Amino acid sequence: MMAPALFCCIWVFVFDVGGKAWKFYDWTKVTTVAAFGEFDAELMCYAHSKGARLVLKGDVTLSDIVDPVNRTTWIQEMVQLAKSQFMDGINIDIEHAVETGSSEYYALTALVKETTESFHKEIVGSQVSFDVAWSPKCIDKRCYDYIAIADSCDLLFVMSYDEQSQIWGDCIAMANAPFNQTLTAYDQYISMKIDPKKLVMGVPWYGYDYICLNFSKDGICTIPKVPFRGAPCSDASGRQIPYSFMMKHINSSISGRLWDENQRAPYYNYKDTDGKVHQVWYDDPESIALKAAYVAQQGLKGIGMWSGNQLDYSEDPIAQQQTSDMWKALTPNPYRRPAAVS
Ligand SMILES: *[C@@H]1O[C@H](CO)[C@@H](O)[C@H](O)[C@H]1NC(C)=O
Ligand SMILES: *[C@@H]1O[C@H](CO)[C@@H](O)[C@H](O)[C@H]1NC(C)=O
Ligand SMILES: *[C@@H]1O[C@H](CO)[C@@H](O)[C@H](O)[C@H]1NC(C)=O
Ligand SMILES: *[C@@H]1O[C@H](CO)[C@@H](O)[C@H](O)[C@H]1NC(C)=O
Repeated sequence: MMAPALFCCIWVFVFDVGGKAWKFYDWTKVTTVAAFGEFDAELMCYAHSKGARLVLKGDVTLSDIVDPVNRTTWIQEMVQLAKSQFMDGINIDIEHAVETGSSEYYALTALVKETTESFHKEIVGSQVSFDVAWSPKCIDKRCYDYIAIADSCDLLFVMSYDEQSQIWGDCIAMANAPFNQTLTAYDQYISMKIDPKKLVMGVPWYGYDYICLNFSKDGICTIPKVPFRGAPCSDASGRQIPYSFMMKHINSSISGRLWDENQRAPYYNYKDTDGKVHQVWYDDPESIALKAAYVAQQGLKGIGMWSGNQLDYSEDPIAQQQTSDMWKALTPNPYRRPAAVS
């Protein structure tokens, strides 16, 4: 019998927000950690010992870097910081509204291009990534030159979550990252001739807890209207909750885990101490595995999550199983991590 084919080389890109949760990450998978918490030399050494890259967080006010001199100053500061901390690149996370053709629009493209050139020149083998919204269609008024940006950096991290940031239809609770909507948006990126090998799919390890203004017999949860960037209603009326919290909470809910077949996502309903009904939408190994299958099928560069910290890494056996299942859902089975990447 032939050995089963091993799926290689899907990268696993982890956002880490600090603390020591990283000690429990599945380092047989991790290829990049974007350090969004405080610098941790122990994490840096550990990541390197596992052949993974550790990259800086790059965040700057766009209006400040329209000026090319200011832009160069910022880039040089980032390169020096990365060098002094033995880091392997930068993840640029700028989520401002940008109008097509504005001075910020061109400055952003130039920033990504110049940052990539400087990092590649000064830190051999370094990686520059840029975070984009779940769809390239001016989501949250982020109208960027996606094609030029993708061309100028190593990879785009597609934030396939917060997909209800702009609700144009009924103001009701829905999935954080519905299956169809998520994958259709990758088709949009790819149809713009962005190389799938530049795309990393970001999945949420958190969900949204909504208070229902009205909870219908069919389980539809009407939510308060909180406008966002031109849309009348948004997920801003909900509260973001880590997977670890929901897994402790779900068994005492009214409904237990439910599954929405249209959005291919789990959810549950509960009553708070004031008697108000809440609906919680999230992702779990089942919904994530469905999306992760697309990564392998379409040959995307990899998969990642916001954030690695949001699982329960305690010694509780139920939590350990749930945490292990979440890591497993990221990649096809059997899986072989790409060779050392730094
Ligand atoms: C340069 O950046 C600084 C902040 O770092 C900002 O205060 C200043 O206004 C910027 N200058 C220009 C010309 O944009
Ligand atoms: C609120 O929910 C009740 C019970 O399901 C339903 O009869 C009613 O039509 C809903 N009202 C609104 C405004 O959606
Ligand atoms: C919740 O219930 C499910 C199904 O009965 C069970 O598998 C799981 O271990 C329970 N979770 C906790 C935290 O007790
Ligand atoms: C999902 O997409 C497929 C193909 O684009 C379409 O046929 C189907 O109706 C969609 N399902 C939902 C629930 O939107």
